[in-house]
Amino acid sequence: MTADRSSSDAPWWRDAVVYQVYVRSFADVNGDGTGDLAGVIDRLPYLRELGVDALWFSPWYPSPMADSGYDVADYRAIDPSFGTLELAEALIREALVMGIRSIVDIVPNHVSDQHPWFRAAVAADPGSPHRDRFWFRAGQGPRGESPPNGWQSIFGGPAWTRVKDADGEPGEWYLHLFAPEQPDLNWTNPDVVRDHEEVLRFWFDRGVAGIRIDSAALLVKAPDLADETPDAKPGDHPFTDRDELHEIYRRWRAIADSYVEPRLLVGEIWLPDAERFARYLRQDELHTAFNFDFLACPWEPVALRTSIDSTLAAHAPVTAPATWVLANHDVTRTVTRYGRSDTSFAFEAKREGTPTDLRLGNRRARAGALLAMALPGSMYVYQGEELGLPEVEDISSEQRQDPMHFRSGGLDPGRDGCRVPLPWSGDRPPYGFSPAGARAPWLPQPDGWGRLTVAAQSADPDSMLSLYRAALGLRRRELRASDGFAWLPSEPTVLSFTRGARFACVVNLGIDPVALPTGADVLIASQELASGRLPQDAAAWLRLPESKE
Ligand code: NOJ
Repeated sequence: MTADRSSSDAPWWRDAVVYQVYVRSFADVNGDGTGDLAGVIDRLPYLRELGVDALWFSPWYPSPMADSGYDVADYRAIDPSFGTLELAEALIREALVMGIRSIVDIVPNHVSDQHPWFRAAVAADPGSPHRDRFWFRAGQGPRGESPPNGWQSIFGGPAWTRVKDADGEPGEWYLHLFAPEQPDLNWTNPDVVRDHEEVLRFWFDRGVAGIRIDSAALLVKAPDLADETPDAKPGDHPFTDRDELHEIYRRWRAIADSYVEPRLLVGEIWLPDAERFARYLRQDELHTAFNFDFLACPWEPVALRTSIDSTLAAHAPVTAPATWVLANHDVTRTVTRYGRSDTSFAFEAKREGTPTDLRLGNRRARAGALLAMALPGSMYVYQGEELGLPEVEDISSEQRQDPMHFRSGGLDPGRDGCRVPLPWSGDRPPYGFSPAGARAPWLPQPDGWGRLTVAAQSADPDSMLSLYRAALGLRRRELRASDGFAWLPSEPTVLSFTRGARFACVVNLGIDPVALPTGADVLIASQELASGRLPQDAAAWLRLPESKE
């Protein structure tokens, strides 16, 4: 595998820019209203020009799409609406020729209820080996009419669903931490362990450079399925961050390391405790994990400084690089979040419909992008972030797809608003997402996105896309994984730091414009400077004058 991007000796993933492709919404070539692999192949030149090092593909396997592909029915094939395995192989190959690596999404906590294993389990009798691959249990109460324990699904409602026995009578219950269509696997079952290791090899053998591990801290459950207790110590929670998980990832790391170019393991790990989080990044476990602390952080100087410091401090002892993430397919789009009075992100408090100043959000998102790109480690860009797409908030309930919306009884708007198909060109839907005469996109695109299309933004030097292209190019030329990070003295409302000897990033979150260091050249700025000063909610990258020592 070759895809050299820098002269640095550090492994590629330590400072890579990884672009998340949500295939369903990227580009539709066959006109069925759903993005496809042919669409990604078509747009590889766009991704090369953007300047990304790797693509992370959200699940592309056959799936009933109960959770938009995170309900996998077969890991060794491609969903027919996306294409074929041959096309996926071609995509991996063609991307690599352009210097872009591929990362696939592995969802080890659960499968689809249409996966052959689960179908066999439902058809089998209680106590059968087929059922042991999942968590089937008798219910509580005289007739087993209550779930086996009080665990709640992350999507809302009980985490258990009851199946019928062969005679049509109510039978056992099975566990699903997400939707009922996503039964949890039993990681103490050897078939589960073995099959996932084979799946890893299956994709590594096809040239993928790494895997993103979905819900990576949830796989292992307490054997007694005890109820949650509010004062559980770290490692004692019945289904989150259990110590037994580390052995699974050590085995995966050994597989990844057995390749001539070792493969990358990236964990989706939502944990508030930075030390527990960093345990997954020990030398013989995962290489990196998403930094959700930074993603959820409000646009406030003290909070951002604290998040950056605690991120770097947590990663230092395990010598893993940090990741910098502002958005993904699960969270409110950045320009919308940053345009609200509360700029933090929390699943429990998604605030669709709250007053939003998109101009302000856009301005901050531009500055946030320069901040994230300048920090040491790797950086993730969620498709559409480079276009400054806002959250789409007016999708009707009938058009919504996300189980999070439905399982909350409609209280939670769900995640469809950040998954709307990309606008490529033109001034009305489907904005070049699908060819002429195609079916309507699987989620509706709003009016008024004509000015946000790739075509429109390519022609505008001041657009978000132009900023991303220029900044990613500069990042590639100016920054190396080994460039040290140090804060520069500044007012509390300003974040100012160096990378290496002569590169600096300054972000102004205060009201007053700030002066830049004397003699510095501005490499790029997210807003025009005002009399040489950096205005509010703006960031600049600088080349500092040579030191005279
Ligand atoms: C995390 C994924 O990012 C999300 O989209 C999905 O719904 C859950 N895991 C369950 O797989």
